[in-house]
Amino acid sequence: MTEDEQKQAAAEKAVEYIKDGMVVGLGTGSCAAKMVDLVGAMVAKGLKITGVPTSEATTAQARSLGIPVVGLDEVNVIDLTIDGTDEVDPQGRLIKGGGGAHLREKIVASLSDRMVVIAEAKKKVAQLGAFKLPVEVIRFAAPALQPRLEALGSTPTLRLAKDGTPFTTDEGNYIYDCDFGKIDEPEDLALTLSTMPGVVEHGLFIGFADIVLIGTDAGVEVIE
Ligand code: 5RP
Repeated sequence: MTEDEQKQAAAEKAVEYIKDGMVVGLGTGSCAAKMVDLVGAMVAKGLKITGVPTSEATTAQARSLGIPVVGLDEVNVIDLTIDGTDEVDPQGRLIKGGGGAHLREKIVASLSDRMVVIAEAKKKVAQLGAFKLPVEVIRFAAPALQPRLEALGSTPTLRLAKDGTPFTTDEGNYIYDCDFGKIDEPEDLALTLSTMPGVVEHGLFIGFADIVLIGTDAGVEVIE
């Protein structure tokens, strides 16, 4: 199976959790985009599914497929969120934010009854940290935060857009991609980052994933 086929298989399994009438958090990234395509096909068949997108890109995709989308002012309950990941460890802890959408993704996931994570096989790791941890920061604070992130033991790199200017998130912030090496204590690091003034959100998702679906050559591995 190619990575693309693994993502497709995981996305197909994930949408089996969606029932008629549900409000569904729609993740961001290439794996999530396959899921959104499938949700679009379900809506086209007549299922009443409302989407809560986690980025402007996903909003545009969902709208183009005719999926009704709402913001957080219009929903009380999000039944299920389906989203991709950059890494997942054996405890279901995640690093997300490779696409720069982890702030809205974490908010939507936190408001959801369940989070289903979908990914290709290479995203399953024994220990988090090979993927640089995205840390979204207020622009004003960015110069001051770089040495503070270094002091935590990381090598932070300001994420750049294709034109060489700083990448700006949907919320108008910057991202430092922080190389911590292997992360021994993700809970401690998450807490430390969450309490740093100027840090808006980091990509460690701990205690969020209820179900992880990994596309593999042997089929979809389901981790609950
Ligand atoms: C975006 C994310 C994505 O879910 C993550 O980067 C995985 O993306 P892809 O499926 O394209 O590898 O967290 O902020």
